[in-house]
Amino acid sequence: MLTPRVLITEPIDQAAVDYLRTKFEVVVGQRGQWDDESYLASNLGSFDGLLSMLSNPVTEKVLRQNPQLKVVANYAVGYNNIDVKAAQSLGIAVANTPDVLSEATADIALGLLLGVCRRLCESEKDLRNGLFDGWHPQGYLGIELYGKKAGIIGMGRIGKAIARRLYGFGIKIAYHNRNRLNSEIEQQYQAEWYDDTDTLLRECDFLFLSCPLTPETHHLLSRERLGLMKPSAVVINTGRGSLVDEHELAKALHSGHIAGAGMDVFEFEPKIDPLLLSAPNTMLLPHIGSGTTETRRKMGLMAAQAIQAVLDGNPLESIPNLVSIN
Ligand code: GLV
Ligand code: GLV
Repeated sequence: MLTPRVLITEPIDQAAVDYLRTKFEVVVGQRGQWDDESYLASNLGSFDGLLSMLSNPVTEKVLRQNPQLKVVANYAVGYNNIDVKAAQSLGIAVANTPDVLSEATADIALGLLLGVCRRLCESEKDLRNGLFDGWHPQGYLGIELYGKKAGIIGMGRIGKAIARRLYGFGIKIAYHNRNRLNSEIEQQYQAEWYDDTDTLLRECDFLFLSCPLTPETHHLLSRERLGLMKPSAVVINTGRGSLVDEHELAKALHSGHIAGAGMDVFEFEPKIDPLLLSAPNTMLLPHIGSGTTETRRKMGLMAAQAIQAVLDGNPLESIPNLVSIN
């Protein structure tokens, strides 16, 4: 029997590559090489397994042209770049990397909150530019975190990791989720459920977006919804760029209808709306939520293990990080 072939579309932590090489023929692509849909569709023909990045558009066209694929494992928790329905109809398994990146991503969410509220980037830049002329009573006044109310949209694993941190800062926690958490978990996180997103938006001081991007959550934070928020509110997005109408957010920041924003993800990555780049009170990061050495290693192994399990013919039920549609 031929040795199955696996494509890893970009260089990742070596442990995952070595793991897959013990059983399979592994090809590692170059950064950006597999980001084009037509290229992906036309050049996957010899592969049985695909370890994809979130920048690879694994669309219906790509999958239909490559029904020989048995598994696609995304090196990310979010998998909006994969047409899971098309994969299912072709019998191609899809996996992601949940859990292992929740703590790292929540750290970045809190970093953004601190950065925006306490004006860390702006004041640090001034200091480096020689503008620090000593402590003064009215310099860089920011927004106090203690006692405020945070709204978390998407109280999954990352949302909960954010909530745990917020609790430590003395911030009240409200959340919206498709399904309400049980009361024991709500108590554990001291989190109050809001059925209605609009009410949550009206009341919160800090909004955290940590839900998956789906057709239903696309532009969840629309112009109308931004209009419901307090002008003193701060938006933090570590989910996906398109959860927010980025241009409308930029306009709201410029006009003072929203006080600040911390973003790790953007609608048209790596392009960023110029109006957002020039907006006041923003901290913008280049999608580094899961970017720690430890987490990226775990993500690589988790994706690799799913590929191995599928290609070895293990029962799909035994693969914990398989994506299922409910
Ligand atoms: C990163 O954005 C991920 O979905 O893992
Ligand atoms: C500030 O540095 C203070 O001591 O209050």
